Amino acid sequence: MTATKRIFSGVQPTGNLHLGNYLGAIRNWAHLQDDYECIYCVVDLHAITQPQDPATLRASTREVTASLIASGIDPQGSIIFNQSQVTAHAELAWIFNCVAKIGWLNRMTQFKDKAGKNRENASAGLYIYPVLMAADILAYKATHVPVGEDQKQHLELTRDIAGSFNDAYGVEFFPLTEPLIFGEATRVMNLRDGTKKMSKSDESDYTRINLTDDADLIAQKIRKARTDPLPLPGSARELVERPEANNLVGIYAALADISRDAVCAEYDGAQFSGFKNALADLAIAKLSPITGEMRRLLDDPAHIDGILRDGAGRARAMAAPILREVQDIVGFLNP
Ligand code: TYM
Repeated sequence: MTATKRIFSGVQPTGNLHLGNYLGAIRNWAHLQDDYECIYCVVDLHAITQPQDPATLRASTREVTASLIASGIDPQGSIIFNQSQVTAHAELAWIFNCVAKIGWLNRMTQFKDKAGKNRENASAGLYIYPVLMAADILAYKATHVPVGEDQKQHLELTRDIAGSFNDAYGVEFFPLTEPLIFGEATRVMNLRDGTKKMSKSDESDYTRINLTDDADLIAQKIRKARTDPLPLPGSARELVERPEANNLVGIYAALADISRDAVCAEYDGAQFSGFKNALADLAIAKLSPITGEMRRLLDDPAHIDGILRDGAGRARAMAAPILREVQDIVGFLNP
């Protein structure tokens, strides 16, 4: 069992990153670099579980990489790479496919959401998506995985797979990984419907704030966000039945690095129209530097490619001996 505290997490290159990705995950990734050895992966193998245009996938891989760096991830201290370039992920995923039970996968709510009504037509890759996640994490024996709340069930499956592998082969090889889900915005909701999460795949762009949006667009989207007619309450407890209001207060709290209660105390009795202006100013102040830095990085794609190449080399070197041991445990002859 590894004694190091090692972080692994991933993000799909399937379009622009949005405020949910940033507040729920990526901002935390940047903070964790001080205390952990961190590996951050742009998961292109996961992306193709749903149809992707090759040129767009390549561009998104660079864009997402740029946004990770612009959000404060240090490509030298941490590792940033794209998943397809380290074959250990796919190899370990195969072994885990033979450990995971169909019953476990049938319970995955994200598969049901993504496959929708036409489940027969979903790719087999989409079905075993969480098994590949387990391989991503365990190829490095990562001990902690920072994610938004929507990934919780997948991380429980990762623990089941690790435990089941250890039991099946009578070893204590894989750690039981801990999820790290923290902050005031572990589940950022859709700006037009507070019961749905903010998502890259929603048809309307007004449901989310993208890290590529300029100041005017951010302000417009926040102004148009749905709310209810009541003013802000004095405490976060009173937001429970008010999903849209709760979401905006949560976003403000996360961006300002304070609690929801502190936001409510400050804006107790204020109308949402005024609060939205304050939120727009805050969001622009926090996001504009990231957007600017992303644009600067994207002007030099060769530099981004160099970072990914270097990261993949370092990731390969870490995963190779672990995969070799797994093959040994499983009984693959290495003549
Ligand atoms: P992805 O690309 O959907 O999302 C990346 C991260 O953003 C978080 N997130 C959110 N957090 C708060 N509110 C939201 N509305 C919101 N939407 C997304 C996600 O929880 C995630 O942390 N399956 C993963 C990628 C992955 C991975 C892994 C993660 C592949 N292998 C191994 C951890 C470990 C995903 O789809 O992320």
